[in-house]
Amino acid sequence: MTAMRLHDLEPSTEEFRRAVVRGLSATPRTLPCKFFYDEAGSRLFDRICELPEYYPTRTELRILDERAGAIADLLGPRTRLVEFGSGAGVKIRLLLAALDRPAVYVPVDICRAHLVAAADALAGDFPDLRVAPVCADYTEPFALPATPGIAIGTTAGFFPGSTIGNFMPDEATAFLRRARRLLGPGSAMVIGVDVPKDAAVLEAAYDDAAGVTAEFNRNLLRRMVRELGAEVDIDGFRHEARWNRALSRIEMHLVSRRAQTIRIGEQVFAMAAGETIHTENSCKYGVDQFRSMAGRAGYLPVTAWTDADGLFSVHVLRAP
Ligand code: TRP
Repeated sequence: MTAMRLHDLEPSTEEFRRAVVRGLSATPRTLPCKFFYDEAGSRLFDRICELPEYYPTRTELRILDERAGAIADLLGPRTRLVEFGSGAGVKIRLLLAALDRPAVYVPVDICRAHLVAAADALAGDFPDLRVAPVCADYTEPFALPATPGIAIGTTAGFFPGSTIGNFMPDEATAFLRRARRLLGPGSAMVIGVDVPKDAAVLEAAYDDAAGVTAEFNRNLLRRMVRELGAEVDIDGFRHEARWNRALSRIEMHLVSRRAQTIRIGEQVFAMAAGETIHTENSCKYGVDQFRSMAGRAGYLPVTAWTDADGLFSVHVLRAP
């Protein structure tokens, strides 16, 4: 165990309750995807990343592995790396190993337990690195932890996994703009972006044969039971992943198998048979399309790499 100071802004149960009630009251019904990532959900997500159908993780890892040297050259020595949604911390190790004496690593994650475990393990593996974890919902403002006495070169954001796609396009632009301001002038952003492709490949990636993604989606309902005391028949909902070509996004839904109610305290939500709760979007952007979005957020595109099959892209952006 290292003596790390955690900056803790984990969302409260009350915030979760408010978001759930708001989402279930909306038409069509929704649930905000950031609440997927409690401890159980974070662990299920780590399993999604290893599924044969889920090509994004291994493809992005391959691109990062191939380009780590080029990224290290672009960033220079003593980088401060800020990772949005750090999860298990697999990808960052590739970058850290390639960088020239990285100075500070700021993992930001919404799940405190997952964050602390991953940050501890990483600090053990990189003894010269200052690890300054922040438990926060990064869609809300937060400050970078001060690290007095440490000389810092470039500050770089790292936002892998095509998590940018889980925002709607206007929210994604707003997120990039906020990240650019947080990281400051001259900072860089290394960001993984999934690209549009064949519907069958996409739908399999978000609806695997082993049913892990279905469990991940239904974990939102389980979390409502665990934390809010909600009354809901979890098996009464099935997972569905639909490719919406017109909007270039995979949509995740929980489809009600029959007419039923969800109760949370005094609130009752009556669901019709076949009615869905829209839990997540995963928007896909072509390389030029993403570059224009980054430009609208005030970033200058530096480079973009894809794998040989053109499945996934990694962009490097620079804040002027
Ligand atoms: N950022 C990931 C993606 O869009 C998140 C994700 C993967 C996900 N599989 C999922 C979200 C299944 C909800 C359900 O690919």
